[in-house]
Amino acid sequence: MTWQASVVTLFPEMFPGPLGQSLAGKGLRKGRWAIDAFDIRGFATDRHRTVDDTPFGGGAGMVMRPDVVDAALAAAIAAGPERPALYLTPRGRVLDQAMVRDFVAGPGLILLCGRYEGVDQRVVEARGLLEVSIGDYVLSGGEPAALVLLDACVRLLPGVMGAAESGVEESHADGLLEYPHYTRPADWQGRAVPPVLLSGHHAEVAKWRRAEAERITRERRPDLWARHAGRDRAPSAPCVTENQCAGRDRAPSAPCVTANPQDAAAAPAMDGRPAAA
Ligand code: ADE
Repeated sequence: MTWQASVVTLFPEMFPGPLGQSLAGKGLRKGRWAIDAFDIRGFATDRHRTVDDTPFGGGAGMVMRPDVVDAALAAAIAAGPERPALYLTPRGRVLDQAMVRDFVAGPGLILLCGRYEGVDQRVVEARGLLEVSIGDYVLSGGEPAALVLLDACVRLLPGVMGAAESGVEESHADGLLEYPHYTRPADWQGRAVPPVLLSGHHAEVAKWRRAEAERITRERRPDLWARHAGRDRAPSAPCVTENQCAGRDRAPSAPCVTANPQDAAAAPAMDGRPAAA
Protein backbone atom coordinates (compact mmCIF):
# COMPACT_ATOMS: atom_id res chain seq x y z
CA MET A 1 0.00 0.00 0.00
CA THR A 2 1.19 3.52 -0.71
CA TRP A 3 2.07 5.58 2.36
CA GLN A 4 0.27 8.87 1.86
CA ALA A 5 1.35 12.30 3.08
CA SER A 6 -1.02 15.23 2.76
CA VAL A 7 0.48 18.62 3.56
CA VAL A 8 -1.70 21.62 4.44
CA THR A 9 0.32 24.75 3.74
CA LEU A 10 0.45 28.29 2.40
CA PHE A 11 3.39 27.22 0.22
CA PRO A 12 2.37 24.04 -1.65
CA GLU A 13 5.16 24.57 -4.19
CA MET A 14 7.68 23.68 -1.45
CA PHE A 15 6.60 20.01 -1.77
CA PRO A 16 7.99 17.48 -2.52
CA GLY A 17 11.03 19.79 -2.84
CA PRO A 18 14.18 17.91 -1.80
CA LEU A 19 12.11 14.76 -1.26
CA GLY A 20 11.76 14.50 -5.04
CA GLN A 21 15.50 13.70 -5.19
CA SER A 22 17.66 10.70 -4.36
CA LEU A 23 16.16 7.64 -2.67
CA ALA A 24 13.02 9.46 -1.46
CA GLY A 25 12.40 10.69 -5.02
CA LYS A 26 12.89 7.21 -6.45
CA GLY A 27 10.47 5.84 -3.86
CA LEU A 28 7.97 8.53 -4.81
CA ARG A 29 8.20 7.67 -8.51
CA LYS A 30 7.90 3.95 -7.72
CA GLY A 31 4.71 4.63 -5.74
CA ARG A 32 6.11 3.55 -2.35
CA TRP A 33 4.77 6.81 -1.01
CA ALA A 34 2.70 9.73 -2.30
CA ILE A 35 2.38 13.37 -1.39
CA ASP A 36 -0.27 15.97 -2.08
CA ALA A 37 -0.25 19.57 -0.90
CA PHE A 38 -3.35 21.60 -0.04
CA ASP A 39 -3.05 25.34 -0.47
CA ILE A 40 -4.66 26.97 2.57
CA ARG A 41 -5.22 30.19 0.63
CA GLY A 42 -7.50 28.28 -1.72
CA PHE A 43 -9.94 27.85 1.18
CA ALA A 44 -10.25 31.54 2.05
CA THR A 45 -13.73 32.89 1.47
CA ASP A 46 -13.28 36.64 0.96
CA ARG A 47 -12.18 38.34 -2.23
CA HIS A 48 -8.76 39.18 -0.76
CA ARG A 49 -8.25 35.50 0.06
CA THR A 50 -7.42 36.34 3.68
CA VAL A 51 -5.91 33.51 5.73
CA ASP A 52 -4.86 35.36 8.89
CA ASP A 53 -5.90 38.10 11.29
CA THR A 54 -4.56 40.02 14.28
CA PRO A 55 -4.36 38.16 17.61
CA PHE A 56 -7.10 38.65 20.19
CA GLY A 57 -5.50 40.24 23.24
CA GLY A 58 -3.09 42.24 21.10
CA GLY A 59 0.56 41.68 20.38
CA ALA A 60 2.79 41.34 17.36
CA GLY A 61 2.16 39.26 14.26
CA MET A 62 -0.81 37.53 12.73
CA VAL A 63 -2.65 34.30 13.53
CA MET A 64 -3.97 31.85 10.95
CA ARG A 65 -7.79 31.80 10.98
CA PRO A 66 -9.42 28.60 12.29
CA ASP A 67 -12.24 28.55 9.71
CA VAL A 68 -9.89 28.73 6.72
CA VAL A 69 -7.37 26.24 8.15
CA ASP A 70 -10.17 23.85 9.12
CA ALA A 71 -11.61 23.84 5.59
CA ALA A 72 -8.15 23.04 4.18
CA LEU A 73 -7.69 20.27 6.76
CA ALA A 74 -11.09 18.80 5.87
CA ALA A 75 -10.02 18.56 2.22
CA ALA A 76 -6.75 16.82 3.19
CA ILE A 77 -8.57 14.41 5.50
CA ALA A 78 -11.06 13.51 2.76
CA ALA A 79 -8.23 12.85 0.28
CA GLY A 80 -6.94 9.65 1.86
CA PRO A 81 -7.36 6.93 4.47
CA GLU A 82 -7.78 7.73 8.16
CA ARG A 83 -4.37 9.04 9.27
CA PRO A 84 -2.87 10.86 12.26
CA ALA A 85 -2.99 14.63 11.76
CA LEU A 86 0.01 16.62 12.99
CA TYR A 87 0.61 20.33 13.48
CA LEU A 88 4.27 21.35 13.11
CA THR A 89 5.11 23.87 15.79
CA PRO A 90 8.10 24.63 18.05
CA ARG A 91 5.68 24.15 20.97
CA GLY A 92 5.11 20.49 20.06
CA ARG A 93 6.47 17.23 21.31
CA VAL A 94 10.03 16.86 20.05
CA LEU A 95 10.25 14.29 17.25
CA ASP A 96 12.31 11.17 17.89
CA GLN A 97 12.99 7.93 16.05
CA ALA A 98 10.33 6.01 18.01
CA MET A 99 7.69 8.49 16.83
CA VAL A 100 9.00 8.21 13.26
CA ARG A 101 8.77 4.41 13.38
CA ASP A 102 5.23 4.70 14.67
CA PHE A 103 4.18 7.09 11.90
CA VAL A 104 5.68 4.77 9.27
CA ALA A 105 3.70 1.81 10.61
CA GLY A 106 0.46 3.61 9.74
CA PRO A 107 -1.08 4.52 6.35
CA GLY A 108 0.46 8.00 6.23
CA LEU A 109 0.15 11.44 7.79
CA ILE A 110 -1.63 14.75 7.46
CA LEU A 111 0.76 17.63 8.21
CA LEU A 112 -0.44 21.14 8.99
CA CYS A 113 2.26 23.78 8.52
CA GLY A 114 1.90 27.06 10.38
CA ARG A 115 3.26 30.47 9.38
CA TYR A 116 3.23 33.85 11.13
CA GLU A 117 2.52 33.47 14.87
CA GLY A 118 0.85 30.11 14.21
CA VAL A 119 -2.64 28.67 13.97
CA ASP A 120 -5.67 29.57 16.12
CA GLN A 121 -5.52 27.00 18.95
CA ARG A 122 -9.20 26.09 18.57
CA VAL A 123 -8.64 24.30 15.28
CA VAL A 124 -5.75 22.34 16.86
CA GLU A 125 -8.11 21.19 19.61
CA ALA A 126 -11.16 20.63 17.41
CA ARG A 127 -9.21 18.38 15.02
CA GLY A 128 -7.22 16.65 17.78
CA LEU A 129 -3.94 17.56 16.09
CA LEU A 130 -0.74 16.14 17.53
CA GLU A 131 1.65 19.08 17.96
CA VAL A 132 5.15 18.09 16.87
CA SER A 133 8.43 20.02 16.93
CA ILE A 134 11.60 18.96 15.11
CA GLY A 135 13.84 20.59 17.73
CA ASP A 136 14.31 23.43 20.17
CA TYR A 137 14.81 26.23 17.66
CA VAL A 138 12.38 28.35 15.66
CA LEU A 139 11.99 28.04 11.89
CA SER A 140 10.23 30.53 9.65
CA GLY A 141 7.35 28.10 9.26
CA GLY A 142 6.24 24.49 9.53
CA GLU A 143 7.18 23.58 5.94
CA PRO A 144 10.88 22.84 6.48
CA ALA A 145 9.90 20.90 9.61
CA ALA A 146 7.38 18.87 7.58
CA LEU A 147 10.10 18.07 5.02
CA VAL A 148 12.43 16.89 7.78
CA LEU A 149 9.73 14.76 9.38
CA LEU A 150 8.73 13.26 6.01
CA ASP A 151 12.34 12.51 5.12
CA ALA A 152 12.77 10.62 8.40
CA CYS A 153 9.59 8.62 7.67
CA VAL A 154 9.97 7.93 3.98
CA ARG A 155 13.48 6.48 4.24
CA LEU A 156 12.08 3.76 6.53
CA LEU A 157 9.35 2.65 4.11
CA PRO A 158 9.88 -0.79 2.56
CA GLY A 159 11.66 -0.53 -0.77
CA VAL A 160 12.88 3.04 -0.34
CA MET A 161 16.36 2.44 1.08
CA GLY A 162 18.77 -0.01 -0.52
CA ALA A 163 19.97 -3.11 1.34
CA ALA A 164 23.20 -1.31 2.21
CA GLU A 165 21.25 1.29 4.15
CA SER A 166 18.86 -1.07 5.87
CA GLY A 167 18.53 1.24 8.84
CA VAL A 168 19.08 -1.54 11.36
CA GLU A 169 22.48 -0.31 12.54
CA GLU A 170 22.17 3.44 12.54
CA SER A 171 22.03 6.20 15.11
CA HIS A 172 18.91 5.98 17.29
CA ALA A 173 17.92 2.55 15.91
CA ASP A 174 18.77 0.94 19.24
CA GLY A 175 18.62 4.06 21.40
CA LEU A 176 22.35 4.59 20.79
CA LEU A 177 24.33 6.85 18.47
CA GLU A 178 26.10 4.93 15.74
CA TYR A 179 29.77 3.86 15.80
CA PRO A 180 32.21 5.71 13.46
CA HIS A 181 32.87 4.52 9.90
CA TYR A 182 36.11 4.15 7.90
CA THR A 183 36.99 3.21 4.33
CA ARG A 184 40.08 3.12 2.07
CA PRO A 185 42.84 4.21 2.25
CA ALA A 186 43.72 2.37 5.48
CA ASP A 187 46.25 5.09 6.22
CA TRP A 188 45.29 8.66 5.33
CA GLN A 189 47.48 11.63 6.16
CA GLY A 190 49.14 9.53 8.84
CA ARG A 191 45.84 8.57 10.40
CA ALA A 192 45.34 4.83 10.65
CA VAL A 193 42.03 2.98 10.69
CA PRO A 194 41.39 1.19 14.03
CA PRO A 195 43.30 -2.12 13.54
CA VAL A 196 40.37 -4.33 14.63
CA LEU A 197 38.45 -3.25 11.51
CA LEU A 198 41.20 -4.73 9.32
CA SER A 199 41.38 -7.98 11.31
CA GLY A 200 38.59 -9.81 9.48
CA HIS A 201 37.38 -11.02 12.87
CA HIS A 202 33.63 -10.37 12.71
CA ALA A 203 32.87 -10.95 16.40
CA GLU A 204 35.68 -8.59 17.44
CA VAL A 205 34.48 -5.95 14.94
CA ALA A 206 30.94 -6.21 16.32
CA LYS A 207 32.25 -5.91 19.89
CA TRP A 208 34.35 -2.84 19.00
CA ARG A 209 31.42 -1.17 17.21
CA ARG A 210 29.10 -1.76 20.14
CA ALA A 211 31.66 -0.36 22.59
CA GLU A 212 32.20 2.72 20.40
CA ALA A 213 28.42 3.29 20.05
CA GLU A 214 28.10 3.14 23.83
CA ARG A 215 31.11 5.40 24.46
CA ILE A 216 29.95 8.05 21.98
CA THR A 217 26.41 8.02 23.32
CA ARG A 218 27.65 8.31 26.91
CA GLU A 219 29.98 11.20 26.04
CA ARG A 220 27.77 13.18 23.68
CA ARG A 221 24.23 12.45 24.79
CA PRO A 222 23.93 11.67 28.49
CA ASP A 223 20.15 11.98 28.08
CA LEU A 224 20.02 9.14 25.54
CA TRP A 225 22.51 7.13 27.56
CA ALA A 226 20.43 7.39 30.73
CA ARG A 227 17.34 6.28 28.83
CA HIS A 228 19.23 3.42 27.18
CA ALA A 229 20.74 2.27 30.46
CA GLY A 230 17.34 2.34 32.19
CA ARG A 231 15.32 1.03 29.24
CA ASP A 232 13.65 -1.85 31.03
CA ARG A 233 12.74 0.28 34.00
CA ALA A 234 11.46 3.77 33.30
CA PRO A 235 11.26 5.13 29.77
CA SER A 236 10.27 8.75 29.59
CA ALA A 237 8.09 9.43 26.57
CA PRO A 238 4.41 8.62 26.23
CA CYS A 239 3.14 6.79 23.17
CA VAL A 240 1.74 9.04 20.49
CA THR A 241 -0.48 6.70 18.51
CA GLU A 242 -2.10 3.31 18.97
CA ASN A 243 0.59 1.65 16.82
CA GLN A 244 3.24 2.71 19.26
CA CYS A 245 1.21 1.58 22.27
CA ALA A 246 0.63 -1.83 20.78
CA GLY A 247 4.21 -2.24 19.65
CA ARG A 248 6.20 -0.75 22.46
CA ASP A 249 8.67 -3.05 24.13
CA ARG A 250 8.85 -1.13 27.36
CA ALA A 251 6.45 0.01 30.03
CA PRO A 252 5.58 3.70 29.71
CA SER A 253 6.27 5.93 32.67
CA ALA A 254 4.23 8.65 31.00
CA PRO A 255 0.66 7.93 29.97
CA CYS A 256 -0.28 6.51 26.61
CA VAL A 257 -2.32 9.32 25.15
CA THR A 258 -4.41 7.31 22.72
CA ALA A 259 -5.25 4.09 24.53
CA ASN A 260 -6.65 5.73 27.63
CA PRO A 261 -9.33 8.39 27.15
CA GLN A 262 -8.62 9.88 30.59
CA ASP A 263 -4.99 10.42 29.67
CA ALA A 264 -6.06 11.87 26.34
CA ALA A 265 -8.22 14.39 28.20
CA ALA A 266 -5.21 15.35 30.28
CA ALA A 267 -3.24 16.08 27.11
CA PRO A 268 -5.80 17.31 24.59
CA ALA A 269 -3.38 18.77 22.08
CA MET A 270 -1.20 15.66 22.04
CA ASP A 271 -3.68 12.91 21.36
CA GLY A 272 -2.61 12.19 17.80
CA ARG A 273 -5.77 10.27 17.11
CA PRO A 274 -6.31 9.57 13.46
CA ALA A 275 -8.28 12.31 11.75
CA ALA A 276 -11.58 11.09 10.39
CA ALA A 277 -13.42 12.85 7.58
N1 ADE B 1 7.81 25.74 13.05
C1 ADE B 1 8.72 26.66 13.42
N2 ADE B 1 9.71 26.10 14.12
C2 ADE B 1 9.42 24.77 14.21
C3 ADE B 1 10.06 23.67 14.80
N3 ADE B 1 11.19 23.79 15.49
N4 ADE B 1 9.48 22.46 14.69
C4 ADE B 1 8.31 22.33 14.03
N5 ADE B 1 7.67 23.33 13.43
C5 ADE B 1 8.22 24.55 13.51
